[in-house]
Amino acid sequence: MITGIGLDIVELSRIHRLDARSPKFRERVLTESELAEYGQLTAARKVEFLAGRFAAKEAFSKANGTGIGGACSFQDIEIRKDAKGKPSIYFRNTETGMVSITHSKDFAAAQVLLQTNY
Ligand SMILES: CC(C)(COP(=O)(O)OP(=O)(O)OC[C@H]1O[C@@H](n2cnc3c(N)ncnc32)[C@H](O)[C@@H]1OP(=O)(O)O)[C@@H](O)C(=O)NCCC(=O)NCCS
Repeated sequence: MITGIGLDIVELSRIHRLDARSPKFRERVLTESELAEYGQLTAARKVEFLAGRFAAKEAFSKANGTGIGGACSFQDIEIRKDAKGKPSIYFRNTETGMVSITHSKDFAAAQVLLQTNY
């Protein structure tokens, strides 16, 4: 059964500004393994990657009905990719639903769908 849907869009310029200021923003948003992936990327891909994960985590928090906060932090949510690059979404290490991420020159967006018995 589908239990939630969430959608989010972010401006790449905003994420770039936050990320350029200090490592704190990415360290708050990305988990340790996501930070390791981020570290391998070119400067332009870093912004896309971080923006896409930020959008996916906000979209998850909407599908979950909690928003980001005490009940659901950025660190509780992780996006993992399979060998072909397809992303999956995990909440506290359990796969909980489906995620799709997109970016253009100016924006990143993500959609999350949650299901019971996923
Ligand atoms: C829920 C949350 C993700 C919304 O994101 P936002 O960027 O503020 O706003 P958006 O425009 O993307 O989304 C707004 C919509 O989210 C929906 N929404 C708000 N709270 C929600 C919740 N608990 N569950 C599901 N959807 C929710 C609403 O429909 C709202 O639109 P409306 O007010 O017109 O009805 C946000 O409140 C949140 O938790 N943000 C995390 C903030 C944060 O830690 N930022 C880090 C910056 S360093």
